Amino acid sequence: MPNADLPKLRDAPIGIFDSGLGGLTVARAIHELLPKEDLVYLGDTARVPYGTKSPATVTRFAREDAQFLVHQTVKAIVVACNSASAWGLEVIQRQFEIPIFGVILPGAKAALEASANRRIGVIGTNATINSEAYQKTIRAIDDSAFVFARACPLLVPLVEEGWIDHPVTMRVWKEYLQPLRKQRIDTLVLGCTHYPLLKRAIQEVVGDHVSLVDSAESCARFVEGQMKPLGLLLRNRRRKGRIQPFVTDAPDKFGVFAERFLGCKTESPQFVELKECGPLV
Ligand code: DGL
Repeated sequence: MPNADLPKLRDAPIGIFDSGLGGLTVARAIHELLPKEDLVYLGDTARVPYGTKSPATVTRFAREDAQFLVHQTVKAIVVACNSASAWGLEVIQRQFEIPIFGVILPGAKAALEASANRRIGVIGTNATINSEAYQKTIRAIDDSAFVFARACPLLVPLVEEGWIDHPVTMRVWKEYLQPLRKQRIDTLVLGCTHYPLLKRAIQEVVGDHVSLVDSAESCARFVEGQMKPLGLLLRNRRRKGRIQPFVTDAPDKFGVFAERFLGCKTESPQFVELKECGPLV
């Protein structure tokens, strides 16, 4: 990357995409850590959920999402969706030239930093858990670690329904997390965009001795750590960064979810139709 382009590039927004609006938890963590950066957020609300779909479909969607953000001239892309990071990250990193970060590596590293007994639990969608992306990444960094993974597919719809503190949600957590508790894990990776909202309930079920790794927060710290040495982060801007949202369906439903996941208001979302990507070269 020639130095002459850096100042212009530095002013460009960071692109973030997710299967829907859950990835706003990642946008929130990035906005809190890097408040001067402009963010362009794409939620593929027309095709959510990704977590129930096949690897080929998730990868195709991820390529189209990334292509849209590249056309918005972003300086880097963050794949907020765990399912898309698990299956699509390497393909889009090969396809596009800008830095592209996923949530898996930051979450895996944070889990290893947090764990004393090297017994780590991972929860996520079926796509994420079946890909074994977290399991392989954790064990590639430290092969003495034991990873116990569990898909929790019912949780995404419950969060979308707003049943955060609902007794049914609690019951479902108990069912899913019981086997992990038996494995004496001391760290649990929340490998899905929706789970940070359920932290309190999860902590109650697994107990205070288990550290929860919020993949949104670890991803934000990782992005900062990677972009700083590249000279890609803003240093002197006075104004606060904007969050510009795009969705592929139902922009009118954005407001309620946005406040739930992001904790603040954004500009109104724009509707977009994503274009197909050509074959990979
Ligand atoms: N964003 C997805 C993830 O983090 C959860 C929702 C979905 O299944 O698309 O895996």
